Amino acid sequence: MFPDAPEPFIDLSTGINPHPYPVPELSSALFERLPDRAHVRRLAAVAAQCYGAPSAGHVLPAPGTQILLPQVAMLVSPGRATILRTTYAEHQRAASVAGHGVTEVSSADQLGRADLAVVVNPNNPDGRLVERDTLLDIADELRRRGGILVVDESFADVAPPGATLAGDIGRGNIVVLRSFGKFYGHAGLRLSFALAAPNLVERLDAMLGPWAVAGPALFIGEKALADEAWKLQESYAKSRLVWQLALLITTSIQEATSNSLSSSLTTYSWSAEEEALIRRIVIVLDSIHGLTQQLETLSTPLIDTYKRPSLYPHTSAPNPTATDGGDAPTSKPASPPLPDA
Ligand SMILES: Cc1ncc(COP(=O)(O)O)c(C=O)c1O
Repeated sequence: MFPDAPEPFIDLSTGINPHPYPVPELSSALFERLPDRAHVRRLAAVAAQCYGAPSAGHVLPAPGTQILLPQVAMLVSPGRATILRTTYAEHQRAASVAGHGVTEVSSADQLGRADLAVVVNPNNPDGRLVERDTLLDIADELRRRGGILVVDESFADVAPPGATLAGDIGRGNIVVLRSFGKFYGHAGLRLSFALAAPNLVERLDAMLGPWAVAGPALFIGEKALADEAWKLQESYAKSRLVWQLALLITTSIQEATSNSLSSSLTTYSWSAEEEALIRRIVIVLDSIHGLTQQLETLSTPLIDTYKRPSLYPHTSAPNPTATDGGDAPTSKPASPPLPDA
């Protein structure tokens, strides 16, 4: 995909921890037998504890967050869906598949006037975090209209404590999605969780049907989510910091914004005052970008120390619809010349 990239190639485009949870020894029975219901319930109990959901009955293990997106959108009858932009593009597709008319809104206070509202929190690609209290107000507004709030917390493992809505799902109309693959570094295992009120969990479970999560995923997930000792290891703490730094660098959007402002200066006609204002915005954005580059230079030795070269093949499969507002960009656009002040 990037034939000219220096090797080893560090692919930070997907926000997947390059220091995965070590794969335990797997018994062949996990592959030979169908996964059993008791194992699913055990994993749900461990996940409830790990993520802070009220009980195992509030948790549905699933084969990846992706597959849940249309299903959570189907929890309400086709109507109006609002999505806080700019974000992972699959939410828009999923809401359309579920029959909703989709509006992408630019501020959280516009989310509540809908049947289904979606927020990625922290957001992909820019790390934007919407306050828990704001989200709870939106959930209240939605509840009055029979609507549901979906909070995609696929990246919440690195969010500040207290950011998650996992403890609030008992309110009845909040669905929280957690991805196992990103933080635990096992995107290929396909494991995730929907956290919601038990009646919603039952409906999602009925949509997924039996044996949705493979036996090896149940086994690895149960072990990893319960492994507090692993989380306390110094190497884990260091890896977590390095991963956060890497995410910060690759999700920086100032440069893209500055590029689009610069190009709109030449594409559209602006009044002299508007043009002066845009030039000033671009200058400030460029200085922020300069700081991001300094951060990148400072972080590189740490990232180099803690990366595992075998994990960085020089080709990588792109995420299905990750280009527009989806996954963090894999390469940065060239900076345009700074406009004259
Ligand atoms: C915000 C967001 N949600 C969900 C997904 C899908 O995650 P999973 O691998 O758990 O299906 C992605 C993948 O990049 C994502 O960025």
